[in-house]
Amino acid sequence: MITIIDFGSQTTHLIGRRIRDLGVENEIVVPGEALALINRSRPKGIILSGGPASVYGKEALLVDKKIFNLGIPVLGICYGLEVVGHMMGGQVASGTKKEYGSTTFEIVKKSPLFEGINLRKEFTVWMSHFDQVTNLPPRYGRLGHTGTVANAAFSDEKRKIYAIMFHPEVHHTENGNKIFSNFIYKICKENNAGRTGVISEIEKYIREEIGDNKVICAVSGGVDSSVVAYLTYKVIGNKLTSLYVDTGLMRDDETKEIKMIFKDKLKLPLKVINAKKEFLEALKGVTDPEKKRKIIGRMFIRTFEKEALRLVPPAQGIPKKLMLIHGTIYPDVIESAGTKHSVRIKTHHNVGGVPKNHGLKIVEPLRSFYKDEVREIAEKLKFPKEIIHRHVFPGPGLAVRIVGEVTEKKLEILKKADKIVVEEIKKAGLYDKIWMAFAIFTNIKTTGVVGDERKYGETIAVRAIDSKDTMTADWYELPYPVLRRISERITTEVFEVVRVVYDITTKPPGTMEWE
Ligand code: XMP
Repeated sequence: MITIIDFGSQTTHLIGRRIRDLGVENEIVVPGEALALINRSRPKGIILSGGPASVYGKEALLVDKKIFNLGIPVLGICYGLEVVGHMMGGQVASGTKKEYGSTTFEIVKKSPLFEGINLRKEFTVWMSHFDQVTNLPPRYGRLGHTGTVANAAFSDEKRKIYAIMFHPEVHHTENGNKIFSNFIYKICKENNAGRTGVISEIEKYIREEIGDNKVICAVSGGVDSSVVAYLTYKVIGNKLTSLYVDTGLMRDDETKEIKMIFKDKLKLPLKVINAKKEFLEALKGVTDPEKKRKIIGRMFIRTFEKEALRLVPPAQGIPKKLMLIHGTIYPDVIESAGTKHSVRIKTHHNVGGVPKNHGLKIVEPLRSFYKDEVREIAEKLKFPKEIIHRHVFPGPGLAVRIVGEVTEKKLEILKKADKIVVEEIKKAGLYDKIWMAFAIFTNIKTTGVVGDERKYGETIAVRAIDSKDTMTADWYELPYPVLRRISERITTEVFEVVRVVYDITTKPPGTMEWE
């Protein structure tokens, strides 16, 4: 077992997932309770996660120094590197250059941590921090550097304490799994037990959580909620009602397509509720993205509650015997500030956006999974391709792809532009290679010239993203001819648009959705 001490990084849970993938159990603990829990569970290794704080700041989170004297190997990642540097007697200072996103790292000294990776050969790593260790602690040796961070990896080989500045857990870091595997098997000497039976574990969880209750499953047509609905139906049959709410914030023709897939391919009964008018009315005049997300969360719950009263007679009061089952996955949880020391990035409507005092108990069987894991499950269940590879679509839908107030007119423009983006990407054979590709209504009017006349029109942004687990993302290098075709088609086929721009921001620092 490996213990991960969570200093509040957005990717702490992903460290756990990587280790789980390597076949090793792990527990995530908060710094204040770490020593006591480690003494109890005696793990084979300790990992210190990243985090948003600074070791010399007021909010600094540290651990009991005794943790370093237990004879258990330690690996500090990002902020965890600073904790090692600072607590072992080195010096941490604010860097002069920020390093967010990708950079290259070079190993300068052999170490079991980097076994199997070439010495003095640069590879890509992802960083997200500002401070750095300027003086190494006594007895520590430098293992590697980046262009701006001299001590980007260091170790005390004798005591098996390691520190790296970059995030090996994110998909965009090359050799990340190798580094974890070296730490776990070569340094901590863990056994490789392997991973089995994920689907039956989920079914067991659903069976136990639901008992004799009736269940509503909120489906969106995405792979997460479809997997949950499918497995729940398998376990409890007709006690499940799968509901799809047509919020009016869906992509063009989406509702029609999803109805067809559920009926003909998954053979799952689906109830479609048309709530377009109510959602648009509730969003009228609202411009703040977090407010929009919360309103949408509330509207979803209201719609489910209304349906709940239909399923369980009102005489029994609010459906005590009714549960809501959701396809929430881990990135939704963490970005909504799901752990004690993490910071809220945005309120994913299905986590923090849902009001607390509703009468429905929520069950989330995929809460600790990542998208690529859910896709693997869907493959095993022989799901249709249209669901497995369907680009991720956020619960609040096009409302978070329209900057500012959502109106029917803006939705109409965005739907047309978005359809063109997706069509062109499919035509180019790129759809399955891209995490998401979509259009954004930027709410910026600019001057254009059409047919020799001035036209003050809308600006559409195009975003295409490469990601594996949602936590980090790179913008996708769409070929110029594809971009050109998208731009030409949008400006000619969508009357109101005079300008098309391409978003070339990685995550971090930008998130995928604009709002
Ligand atoms: P961000 O914008 O946070 O998006 O980088 C990461 C992934 O999550 C999706 N997303 C959401 N999914 N409810 C969801 O179910 C939400 O409120 C929500 N907000 C963002 C987004 O589409 C991307 O794939």
